[in-house]
Amino acid sequence: ALPGATVEGLLAQRVAHAVRAAWDVSLTPAQALLRPSQVAGVDFQSNAAMGLAKRLGRPPREVAEGVAAALFADGVLEPPEVSGPGFLNLVLRPAFLAGRLAALAADPRLGVPEAERRERVVVDYSAPNAAKEMQAHHLRSTVLGDAIARLMEFLGHEVVRQNHLGDWGTQMGLLVEHAVETGGGPEPGAMTEFYRAARLRFDGDPEFADRARRRTAELQSGDPDSRRIWRSVMDASVAHLQEVYALLGVGLTPEDVRGESFYQPLLGPLVERLEAAGLAEESDGALCAFPAGFAGRDGAPVPVMLRKRDGGYTYDTTDLAAVQYRVDELKADRSYYVVGAPQQQHFATVFAVAREAGVLPADADFRQVSFGSVLGADGRMLKTRSAGGTVEMLDLLREGVRRAAAMIAERNAGRSTGEETADGIEDIARAVGIGAVKYADLSVDRERDAVFSFDRMLAMDGNTGVYLQYARARMGSVLRRGAAAGVPEGPITADALGEPAERTLALALLGLPGAVLETAETLRPHRLCRQLFEVAQAFSGFWESCPVLGAERPEVRAARLGLCGLSGRALELGLGLLGVEAPERL
Ligand code: ARG
Repeated sequence: ALPGATVEGLLAQRVAHAVRAAWDVSLTPAQALLRPSQVAGVDFQSNAAMGLAKRLGRPPREVAEGVAAALFADGVLEPPEVSGPGFLNLVLRPAFLAGRLAALAADPRLGVPEAERRERVVVDYSAPNAAKEMQAHHLRSTVLGDAIARLMEFLGHEVVRQNHLGDWGTQMGLLVEHAVETGGGPEPGAMTEFYRAARLRFDGDPEFADRARRRTAELQSGDPDSRRIWRSVMDASVAHLQEVYALLGVGLTPEDVRGESFYQPLLGPLVERLEAAGLAEESDGALCAFPAGFAGRDGAPVPVMLRKRDGGYTYDTTDLAAVQYRVDELKADRSYYVVGAPQQQHFATVFAVAREAGVLPADADFRQVSFGSVLGADGRMLKTRSAGGTVEMLDLLREGVRRAAAMIAERNAGRSTGEETADGIEDIARAVGIGAVKYADLSVDRERDAVFSFDRMLAMDGNTGVYLQYARARMGSVLRRGAAAGVPEGPITADALGEPAERTLALALLGLPGAVLETAETLRPHRLCRQLFEVAQAFSGFWESCPVLGAERPEVRAARLGLCGLSGRALELGLGLLGVEAPERL
């Protein structure tokens, strides 16, 4: 349930209170069943009366009437009306609305309360495989994880970013062997070519493949030469990744890399710990743990593979060690693993084993933040290395920036905005192009598949990054014109809440704190995207029907300008939490 600091939370509390006063029944605020209303002229609706009526053995409308009478007294609501079988229609009074908006405007956090307890939150995201090009699902993880990390920081938590790079295992021997045989590692800036050349050889030359496997074994048994070359290949690979992160504007640094290799020294002792706890069993020559409560399709227990037949450790073992490290060393109260849906069973079973072994305390909130696939416009899985083998992540992102530049140029051609563009066109194109890519991943419920289509993500109408960026720029431009004309950005008073379009905008703005909290609770950024889109749409309705600088009365001008200012700040804050840039001017 949302706290009373949000309007929805406050109303839910009031409804619960009124239910108690009228019918002597205790409800939690969540049981007030409060929803934003779809009915024109109604702000919220409570559907609690129907359930209560059953409990009380009275007609639902009568129950609702009683609650309505008890609700009315306190200055927040207009006299509530009962509709249909017993819906309670709630309309906020203009003076209350104005007061809440003024409070929002006076708060740099725009009404979003800080978490009551500051916790340490480890966010595991991006995590591509160092021996290959970054794939679209890693981009989605990067974008989602970055937004979640920003959101947690904004709520006052201490965030530790971890990039669980796939930097160990067979692929690495392949790169190291290729580096040795070609007399050095990748040229700077040519990491992609290096991956591809190595892989082509591996696929086409069985003898090279044998040498690569031998190299992996040497590397893993600590051979100093192999280790040194591995280090230099990894450095090049991380430098390449940083280029992607810099273009994306994502706050991951080389210091956040805790790749699979990092955990190697911890694996032996950890497996001993699991054996000592009686959790390890021999199975087909391998050593496994079978967490309680998991069964495969055939009803057989699901293994977490601790050690392979050949003595090597696995992805599972490494993740168990990462849990241990995050609990013991990073002192994590929570850890969010932003990883695609295909790894659900992996994480569920790893966490279960970690709990059984006492590695993961019961009160630590470790969970996977799962997400769906990224599909191309053709509805198939998007591959950065497609059959043609040409698309690469950096190229893909640069393509987005190029398209954004073309779009802006076309839009601005022959259309003078009357303002000089302060930022260079390249900066704006980057903000728009990258913002479009990020917003496209964020605005779809993460559990669903996302479609990667430049045409869609750069659409000027609809729930897109560029739509919000334009709305935000328009709000800023009104403010600048207001300042130039000497109109003060006044307090938002009931003077600016009489028109339906003004009310719609006011309600969208008041919904922001609740949307931010719900996003943090569910770790679903599309909830916040929805709210920002609502603000932008409501603003556009307001803009069409309510003159701001042209309003007749000076108090209306000032109050409406206040609404513009608050709207701009709402989009700026929201886009900032999502990691999407909001240029002043477009
Ligand atoms: N490298 C892995 C992959 O590409 C993702 C790692 C996610 N994080 C983790 N702790 N396992 O599938």
